[in-house]
Amino acid sequence: MKLSTKNLLGIKDLTPEDIQLILSTASQFKDVLQRPVKKVPSLRDVTIVNLFYENSTRTRISFELAEKRLSADTVNFTVSGSSAAKGETLLDTVNNILSMKVDMVVMRHSASGAPHFLAKHIPAAIVNAGDGINEHPTQALLDAFSMTEKFGSLKGLKVAIIGDIMHSRVALSNIYLLTKMGADITVAGPPTLIPKYIAEALNVKVEYNVKKALQWCDVANVLRIQLERQNQPLFSSLREYNQAYGISRQLLESLGKDIVIMHPGPINRGVELDSDVADGPFSIILNQVENGVAVRMAVLYLLANREN
Ligand code: CP
Repeated sequence: MKLSTKNLLGIKDLTPEDIQLILSTASQFKDVLQRPVKKVPSLRDVTIVNLFYENSTRTRISFELAEKRLSADTVNFTVSGSSAAKGETLLDTVNNILSMKVDMVVMRHSASGAPHFLAKHIPAAIVNAGDGINEHPTQALLDAFSMTEKFGSLKGLKVAIIGDIMHSRVALSNIYLLTKMGADITVAGPPTLIPKYIAEALNVKVEYNVKKALQWCDVANVLRIQLERQNQPLFSSLREYNQAYGISRQLLESLGKDIVIMHPGPINRGVELDSDVADGPFSIILNQVENGVAVRMAVLYLLANREN
């Protein structure tokens, strides 16, 4: 089977069959990653550039590891130390890199739509590693993989996405993916951080009381407060946010049921998640990070395979 798309720009463009194919391929790569020799020759003749115009720890390392495990040749570009800092345009930068015979581009950019713009202008396959407040498709795929590992299926799973929905590309990609795969979604948080028409536009429930959302769900995907994307204050203080919307151990214990806690990282400890929850028995946050490598191997492998 092959993906229906040449690039991975967003979950919005994928079919449920594409998502299923990526998740089942990731499962095979996860088996490979448990072996003493974690490397396969699948992308031996493929050259990939990781083009990161915005900071990243997990996604960048995860893509780099995935590429190395697949035996691809990789080049890393970060904006600081490059000629982008001298004013070179995105398209000029990429065309110069492509002239050195690069097959795929993994790209993170603070501007929503940057990878879509590139896809219109260059022949190489593009993987969106997060664009502004638009999408973060491989994060949603690794979240889905982690939920499937835990629950067996996404169909009918009750997922609460909690926190700064307004500025979160992780929220949007998760909503697209979980809706396509038949999960039930509630978004929860302060009214100022939840887009006004999200219920109608994206077919999700909205809950402003986090405790009620937690009582309803099987799994809570808790999001970072993205202060760097907020031009004006949208809540009174981080301390008050934590009191009203943060997830504490006491709050979890008051539910009378077990739920799984997820977070894409980086965590603002003591704001959206208390440390004893982030590091506690219900958290699968580091499993998410581990699964990211297998999921990104699957995405790169399937996109490269599609081109052949
Ligand atoms: N989850 C995520 O995208 O983390 P990084 O910003 O560290 O890549």
